[in-house]
Amino acid sequence: MGSRLLIASIVLFCLSETCHGEVHFSSLKRTLTVGASPKQGAVLKAGDDKITVTWGLNQSFPAGTDALYKKIKVKLCYAPISQKDRAWRKTVDILKKDKTCQFAIVARPYDMSKKDQSFEWTIERDTPTATYFVRAYAYSSTGEEVAFGQTTDSQKTTNLFDIQAITGRHASLDIASVCFSVFSVVSLFGFFFIEKRKAKSSTKN
Ligand SMILES: *[C@@H]1O[C@H](CO)[C@@H](O)[C@H](O)[C@H]1NC(C)=O
Repeated sequence: MGSRLLIASIVLFCLSETCHGEVHFSSLKRTLTVGASPKQGAVLKAGDDKITVTWGLNQSFPAGTDALYKKIKVKLCYAPISQKDRAWRKTVDILKKDKTCQFAIVARPYDMSKKDQSFEWTIERDTPTATYFVRAYAYSSTGEEVAFGQTTDSQKTTNLFDIQAITGRHASLDIASVCFSVFSVVSLFGFFFIEKRKAKSSTKN
């Protein structure tokens, strides 16, 4: 009786914790071919520029390798140079704790019938200035990562590109335009007030 309970609780624990959801990046097979339009070293502008991403099964793997893939998520990921001294962008092998790929580009059901799929993404306005690459994860029906692919090599040194944040480029313009609007409203009221006083004093005389 007691041992059954023990086994049951171990199984439950397994289902809820360790056996489930602790997917390690190092355990994933690189079976996807992933492409992104920016050339090595390109500098793109957040909020303006577009990135076309493509993904599909690497054709050197046998057909059916992707039989269990249900969903694909393509993400924008920090290159090592932009993770240095930044714990909040750290790479952790346990994927739930990994901070490498914080920006979702697109999520789609996985389509086995297509060799290649693509998506055009306008870089989100709040993307910070950094060096990036693109990675795609394949998910099983239980929502766990089962495979991946990326635009860079395993050391994350090739095919990296830069994104420039809006701050400092557009932000100063935005501030300037707000200042001008406030100034014009204030001066409009100012002139209105002066005119009114003038009108008043001229009727008195
Ligand atoms: C496809 O997989 C093979 C074997 O792992 C690898 O050598 C090759 O570079 C991959 N091709 C692409 C385009 O990712």
